[in-house]
Amino acid sequence: MSRIYSRIVGTGSYLPAKLVTNDDLAKTMDTSDEWISARTGIRQRYIAEPDQTSSDLAFEAAKNALVSAGKSASDVDLILVATSTPDFVFPSTACLLQKKLGVHGCAAFDLQAVCSGFVYALATADKFIRSGQHKCALVVGAEVFSRILDWNDRGTAVLFGDGAGAVVLTADSTPGILGSVLHADGAYSDILSVPGNVCGGKVIGSPFLQMDGQAVFKFAVRVLDEAARETLDQCGLTIADIDWLIPHQANVRILEATAKRLGMDSSKVIITVDRHGNTSAASVPLALDVAVRDGRVRPGHKVMLEGVGGGFTWGAALVQM
Ligand code: ACO
Repeated sequence: MSRIYSRIVGTGSYLPAKLVTNDDLAKTMDTSDEWISARTGIRQRYIAEPDQTSSDLAFEAAKNALVSAGKSASDVDLILVATSTPDFVFPSTACLLQKKLGVHGCAAFDLQAVCSGFVYALATADKFIRSGQHKCALVVGAEVFSRILDWNDRGTAVLFGDGAGAVVLTADSTPGILGSVLHADGAYSDILSVPGNVCGGKVIGSPFLQMDGQAVFKFAVRVLDEAARETLDQCGLTIADIDWLIPHQANVRILEATAKRLGMDSSKVIITVDRHGNTSAASVPLALDVAVRDGRVRPGHKVMLEGVGGGFTWGAALVQM
């Protein structure tokens, strides 16, 4: 019997309607387009309406991915949602997405690895499919990070946006996911966190994101470099084999520094953080969908997807489209 692999057969994404530019932010906080653009490359982001949740954004992205895959929701036998901003403590956002899709019975669960969440979810779904037990997975990254930002903290509030991205992954006799690596080191939990919890009807700790920006910057560039090289080694390939690099979209300086360390031309890096801000677990599938739809990423291309985020967590997946 031939071996089972998984392939991405469709991509989709969704951004909320409300566009917020750097100049819009400068009206309500002590910041400027000049500062935000120069330090981060971010020019704008999209912010969900107060009644729009991660599962709402996930639903729109999932529908787009299913259409592009030529599949219907009833074909899906596994739903994985990567999010750090779930609708509820429980039920999971994946179960709420399943309800919105109008399907019943398939496995559905959330995966929490912050900005590495999509890469973690993709690697997980790949392993489920390769086990032979699942044949069609919907893998989604969906976030409403605007809900966990302190809008009085200019050091963090300007960096993030809301959105969702999704892929449909199916069983195939030829490999689509060529290799993947996942890592974490909880010793770095303090440099990026939302150190709060709900207890006895109250928020204990802080419900807002806090970050040591310079520590995050250095950590991210180092592990994005290492994870890409480790994945290539696993696949017996080299940097020259990569058609496109899609790292987590935290900021343009991190993306440029990563490409430089890898010795890759910056023209091979897909950048959407300028338009989307940092959408955490949604950033990689959003960027992939943009690049598929504008024709840069084409069938047969090898794409290195990379995540890094709170935990700290990091990982990479090399995908042949
Ligand atoms: N507008 C204007 N001034 C600001 C702003 C702002 N939005 N934010 C901070 N400043 C000021 C500070 O108050 C400080 O002023 P001071 O010198 O008078 O004290 C000055 O700018 C420098 O502040 P720093 O925090 O030292 O600025 P830095 O050069 O480190 O840039 C940044 C901050 C952009 C966050 C940078 O550290 C960075 O890119 N870090 C990477 C972290 C990141 O991208 N995180 C995203 C989430 S993590 C992830 O996704 C993996």
